[in-house]
Amino acid sequence: MYSQALNVKDEQASGPEDAAKLARFQGIIDREDKIEPRDWMPAAYRRTLVRQISQHAHSEVIGMQPEGAWITRAPSLRRKAALLAKVQDEAGHGLYLYAAAETMGVAREELYGQLLSGKAKYSSIFNYPTLSWADIGVIGWLVDGAAIMNQIPLCRCSFGPYARAMIRICKEESFHQRQGFEIMMTLSRGTPAQKAMAQDALDRWWWPSLMMFGPSDAASMHSADSTRWKIKRFSNDELRQKFVDATVPQGHYLGLTFPDPDLKLDEASGHWTFGAIDWDEFRRVLAGQGPCNAERLANRQKSEDDGAWVREAVAAFAAKRRAQAATAQPQAAE
Ligand SMILES: [Fe+2]
Ligand SMILES: [Fe+2]
Repeated sequence: MYSQALNVKDEQASGPEDAAKLARFQGIIDREDKIEPRDWMPAAYRRTLVRQISQHAHSEVIGMQPEGAWITRAPSLRRKAALLAKVQDEAGHGLYLYAAAETMGVAREELYGQLLSGKAKYSSIFNYPTLSWADIGVIGWLVDGAAIMNQIPLCRCSFGPYARAMIRICKEESFHQRQGFEIMMTLSRGTPAQKAMAQDALDRWWWPSLMMFGPSDAASMHSADSTRWKIKRFSNDELRQKFVDATVPQGHYLGLTFPDPDLKLDEASGHWTFGAIDWDEFRRVLAGQGPCNAERLANRQKSEDDGAWVREAVAAFAAKRRAQAATAQPQAAE
């Protein structure tokens, strides 16, 4: 689903790095070529990407929970099939991204450990509850819509495995956004109760969606490096504005009202201006005090525990096959 631009100060590179290697590395980036896992890279570039890609992977996997909760309660077989496919897509996104992070030389188990211990973050949006079916529509429309806005530029990220994963992911996010908007359109054109349900979902999810783009540029600590390395092509505030400009006319088309009395079109610039974001809420949710943080991590821990026997069985089977192959080889040679 999404990698949130989080405000964590990067530690400085630990040793002096060879100026010639650094110049070659930056040259590849400036030419818009890709850095591949076998290439030399500065320690800070590796650290930044491991953190960003793994947080993105965690967000995909945790993001399955709020929507997965509605698979058994989808209002029709068609809706259930689409939602199942979407949630499975998110699992796939997590897998591509964990695999991309692993090319940086970090073990997947270590990344899982960071998520479960709370050391690694995931997008704050997934700590809000899905109270009605309309929330499934609004998540597709707004949350996947925000993800697309953030992720399209990542298709041109300087790190090859991440950029290539994003191309495929963006195609699927586009389907997610459309199915969400279609749910919202059906509800908005339905009975007064259905329309009220759609409005209530928009009221609850609008502000958290805007927080998905991360802290304001003024408070963002490490975008200069990310920009120079062509990991980040647009600032948090630029992406947030693009999202608002694209989404507000869609909400008006649905006949819904945004929960922001300050939202208005600035005729001169053509942009929608919007009210102040509650950054205290953002920090609280990110720090673990959102409505569902504990539940999300407890569920993830349970999946980890429930799956332990499968991992052990696969490892034991692989060890048995290796042992069989080792004893069979001398006989074959005779
Ligand atoms: Fe996704
Ligand atoms: Fe998605």
